Amino acid sequence: RSRRMGQPHEILDGIERYFGVSAPLAGLRALVTSGPTHEPIDPVRYIANRSSGRQGHAIAAACAALGARVTLVSGPSAQPDPAGVTTTHIETARQMLAACQAALPADAAIFAAAVADWHVARQSELKLKKTPDVTPPALALVANPDILATIAAAGPARPRPVIGFAAETHQLETHAEDKRRRKNADWIVANDVNPASGIMGGAENEVHLVTADGIETWPRLDKSEVARRLADRIAQVLST
Ligand code: CTP
Repeated sequence: RSRRMGQPHEILDGIERYFGVSAPLAGLRALVTSGPTHEPIDPVRYIANRSSGRQGHAIAAACAALGARVTLVSGPSAQPDPAGVTTTHIETARQMLAACQAALPADAAIFAAAVADWHVARQSELKLKKTPDVTPPALALVANPDILATIAAAGPARPRPVIGFAAETHQLETHAEDKRRRKNADWIVANDVNPASGIMGGAENEVHLVTADGIETWPRLDKSEVARRLADRIAQVLST
């Protein structure tokens, strides 16, 4: 009989018991979203965005490394599934919401995905054909559900903390604090997505952590280090 490899949280539980050291998120559950969503137009075309999934995947891995049981709900991304994390692959925002709801209850939820704001009202079952001299098709768009705001309003099943991201090109701090209140998030990780910053799709991130206590500016760091610091902060609040 083959021996099953233990999951990271099980191994950490064991290490903790054996050596008396602590895996601060052991026994806790984290839900993480990552990557873009794809919103189909017809069988071959879709609306997407430039999110790589790097930051969200790194957060899922960092929470697992501290012992959490992590469900990662990811849109299409070239990032490999993090080891020791349960990853659900989806394409659309509506599928992402359903997968997040199915993953509850969770202690902490981190919404790092770049969810499309709209989907196409009438997805064509057949490929849209171009017809010479005919006006190109107009795409009617419908608002997608806000996944963060829906989970943050989930009543007794609401994770705490609920953490959102804000991608801003200007007035970053004002917009991020406004987003935190509007969506009922506990924290917002705000970043500057001006093309000159090289952050969207890049290896590094420069973030501001916006909480009810104020705004912290973190230095420019590798996305994996931003993830580790965020996981540490989650462990701090969940242990108090
Ligand atoms: N989010 C979500 N579901 C959506 C849209 C956004 O869960 N339908 C989450 C994202 O994962 C992120 C935060 O909400 O945590 C970003 O909010 P959003 O309103 O999309 O902000 P921006 O992308 O910064 O865009 P805007 O400036 O247009 O508000």
